[in-house]
Amino acid sequence: MGKLSAAITAVGAYVPKFILTNKMLEGMVDTNDEWITTRTGIKERRILKPEEGEGTSYLAIKAVKNLLSKKEVDPSEIELVIVATATPDSTVASTAAFVASEIGATNAFAFDLLAACSSFLFGMSTAARYIESGRYKKVLLIGADKMSSIIDYTDRTTCIIFGDGAGAVLFEPNTEGMGLQDEYLRADGSGRPYLGMDAGGSLLPASLETVKNRKHYIYQDGKTVFKFAVSNMADVAERIMKLNNLDHTDIAWLVPHQANKRIIDATANRMGLDGSKVMMNIQRYGNTTSATLPLLLSDYEDQLKKGDNLVFAAFGGGFTWGSIYLKWAYN
Ligand code: UT7
Repeated sequence: MGKLSAAITAVGAYVPKFILTNKMLEGMVDTNDEWITTRTGIKERRILKPEEGEGTSYLAIKAVKNLLSKKEVDPSEIELVIVATATPDSTVASTAAFVASEIGATNAFAFDLLAACSSFLFGMSTAARYIESGRYKKVLLIGADKMSSIIDYTDRTTCIIFGDGAGAVLFEPNTEGMGLQDEYLRADGSGRPYLGMDAGGSLLPASLETVKNRKHYIYQDGKTVFKFAVSNMADVAERIMKLNNLDHTDIAWLVPHQANKRIIDATANRMGLDGSKVMMNIQRYGNTTSATLPLLLSDYEDQLKKGDNLVFAAFGGGFTWGSIYLKWAYN
């Protein structure tokens, strides 16, 4: 029997029904379709409206149900549920615990994992460790964010970028050499001033003042974040290739965080990949934070073949960033 590795064996996804187009944003803030398209690559994003459902858990549960409709898994056999998110339903009580109960994962333990736009990537690493330990056989990793809950729709620098969505993957043991091969993960707290949300945490609890001063919305120094994201995402993707003796012909797909088409293109260029090997859906969903990577896997699942080499790369608030090399496990 070969070495035990952690493979993705199923994928599911969900995006809310309401579509917020660039045209609609033109009526809300001083912006235009041409600016948004050329600067970001985004055309539209999905927004969870109260009449459809509430909270990040709603999106997460829908994504898991989609996964379970495609793969026969008894939810009671799932041992761990991780919800990667920057927008949990509420603080303190674990969103993952609620999701686990709702999907029937009654024997699982569950926790949330927060690393901004790198949450899902770091979640892949975490899920893999539990599987590789030999102790756990079914780990469900969900990336879900209701970004619209922390967006100021009068701020043109952020409201054009983010959208809501969720994706889920199942990790199981593999002895054929498929699954997670290597990773290079990083963090740098000096990035905190450039991307985040000022109030609502322990540092600055909610008060009348914080609400009045609009401190419960996400802010971003876009230019600075862009600079760090472009160089760091490309650096780690190039590094994971070198560490594993991969050249561009070995790679079937780049699976990049969907923050800005220009960042994705720069990463692909550094790796020597042409556009046909780059997963991209930013035009339809915008930046869904923890959901971008599993939403890509769901959109491209039909094109993936067993043994395909995938390189994941992400960059997010904190700063947090990294790259993962994974062999796809099924056709
Ligand atoms: O996922 C987590 C990581 N996040 C990222 O990776 C995001 C990184 N940053 C970015 O993607 C880009 O910086 C943005 C898309 C956020 C902004 O693009 P940019 O090319 O960096 O634009 P900028 O901030 O330098 O702004 C250029 C101009 C400014 O006007 P002036 O000062 O040149 O007159 C802005 O005020 O564009 C203006 N501007 C807008 N104009 C129309 C800013 N937002 C808008 C807008 N519509 N929505």
